[in-house]
Amino acid sequence: MDAMELMKGRYSCRAYQPELPTRKKVLEAVEAASFAASSKNTQPWKLHIGIGESCDKVRASLTEAFDTGAPAGADYKYAPDSLPQEMMDRARTCGFALFQHKGIGRDDKAARKAHDRENFKLFGAPAVAVLSLPAAAEKGNFLDAGQFLGYFMLALREAGYESVPMFSVANYPRALRAPLGIPDDRIVVCAVAFGVPDAEAHVNAFRTTRESAESLVSWA
Ligand SMILES: Cc1cc2nc3c(=O)[nH]c(=O)nc-3n(C[C@H](O)[C@H](O)[C@H](O)COP(=O)(O)O)c2cc1C
Repeated sequence: MDAMELMKGRYSCRAYQPELPTRKKVLEAVEAASFAASSKNTQPWKLHIGIGESCDKVRASLTEAFDTGAPAGADYKYAPDSLPQEMMDRARTCGFALFQHKGIGRDDKAARKAHDRENFKLFGAPAVAVLSLPAAAEKGNFLDAGQFLGYFMLALREAGYESVPMFSVANYPRALRAPLGIPDDRIVVCAVAFGVPDAEAHVNAFRTTRESAESLVSWA
């Protein structure tokens, strides 16, 4: 696929077909992602991957954590307590648009909870990868890992898969560590659920908007 098309066609996929991604294709995607730049070529990233039954074990572990109200607590702080206003506005717009697309009303708490629970069911994906960093990682290392993550999602697209990056489940690192064997000396950064997209699923027709390119730059 053309690189621009690969990038501009990516979307967060929230419904999948049962077909299992093959290890061969996933490894090819990991290899492509490993060409991401990192400061001093430190390559701090690792992926802990479960396909099929292993993914189902992660799903079971996560849904149990969600259903039993296990205490949430990620290995790192994702964002400031108070987001800058323009970011907050975009987050609200995006959340509202997704709920509207799914026909979920503002006050429909049960439907909202069911949507949240979908995260912990990994949106029915047949495969999951958890991105980790060394425990001592700092902001710069997260910057490197983000590039790896972006490359990985694009490489998955090239292989015919779609994905959704997920921080929600990183709030329950213990539920991810056990079934995926993630060692204690690694920080859980986020998960990526992936697989063949269910093209018929209404939720997969949802698209987010972007700021114009002009608004993202200042020219000197
Ligand atoms: C690090 C990261 C974590 C995310 N966590 C979640 C998540 O937990 N659940 C979810 O449904 N989407 C999650 N998303 C997807 C974003 O909501 C999505 O990327 C954004 O709304 C833009 O939409 P698009 O990916 O369809 O272009 C995450 C994205 C990133 C980059």
